[in-house]
Amino acid sequence: MINKIGIVGGGNIGGVLVSEIVSRRLARNIGLVDIAPPEFAKGKCLDIAEATPVYGRDINLEGSKTYEVLEGADFVINTAGVPRKAKPDGSFPSREELLATNLKITDFVAAGIKKYAPNAFVISIANPLDAIVYRLFKKLRCKPNRIMGMAGVLDSSRYKYFVAEEANVSVENVEAVVLGGHGDTMVPIRSACRIYGLPVDQFVNKTALAKIEKRTRAAGGEVVGLLGSGSAFVSPAISALEMVEAIAFDKRKIVPVAAHLKGEYGVKGLFLGVPVILGKNGIEEIVKIKLTPDEKKALRVSINAVKKTCAAVDKVR
Ligand code: APR
Repeated sequence: MINKIGIVGGGNIGGVLVSEIVSRRLARNIGLVDIAPPEFAKGKCLDIAEATPVYGRDINLEGSKTYEVLEGADFVINTAGVPRKAKPDGSFPSREELLATNLKITDFVAAGIKKYAPNAFVISIANPLDAIVYRLFKKLRCKPNRIMGMAGVLDSSRYKYFVAEEANVSVENVEAVVLGGHGDTMVPIRSACRIYGLPVDQFVNKTALAKIEKRTRAAGGEVVGLLGSGSAFVSPAISALEMVEAIAFDKRKIVPVAAHLKGEYGVKGLFLGVPVILGKNGIEEIVKIKLTPDEKKALRVSINAVKKTCAAVDKVR
């Protein structure tokens, strides 16, 4: 069992994280910080704490408007930020449009983590994902194996779900991975998609696969449009906990995460969604995937999009 998990932001994703950690008995202590008035984080924690007798879990929940509740956390999960909301005309902002607002929040978050939990593993979920995790890393100056963004687990899960639905087989039979930035340029890797270990196109025709891949790239927006207020929150929370469990239980599980690259996939100094081995040291190893020429090309486009956003981040002091 983990001693303590700190969560920054107790909104939709943060709330699911807390209740799911309690339900899984994943940690003895949870510290939740959220600046929302009057005492939003306290309220969230009290609500869930009052259900612990029903859950049958003894767990210490502490919510606060200030960051000292992160003190001693082994993991910090960052969800602080403004989510995408549908505009009155039905369109919704891109993740990049959230950048300016969320960067200010991120600097505040980084200062809190640095002060109270400088040695924690940091998993960031706030959008625009690749840019926010890059900023956190710059501010925290922590070891690159201890900080990562959650996107690939969710994007791959969406891809798997759509493939399973189309093939009419169990989601458990589908293996799939999405690489690159967590934006419209993300790259579902068809050549690595398998159903029961067999090539996916044995079950799903190429036209349907192309549609699924397009839907995967836009899947976050699809949920935003349907919800009408805010963005997906259950699937991101569950995906982040897969990463926490892989590290806490030293699973050495291969999962796609936004990882700091030092030349792998032709990227240096930026965070990009790639498969990694997650174990007790966090990111133990970056895993290389052989890509088709088309996939390589698409990944290059995605890398350029991430580079552009990170260049915009660097301009904001
Ligand atoms: N410190 C702590 N919490 C903060 C801060 C801050 N500086 N700034 C904002 N928050 C809190 C808000 O008060 C809010 O309760 O972050 C919470 C965010 O919750 P929601 O608005 O419900 O957003 P959510 O759906 O949880 O998504 C959070 O993750 O997937 C991304 O795009 C999404 O960037 C968004 C983030």
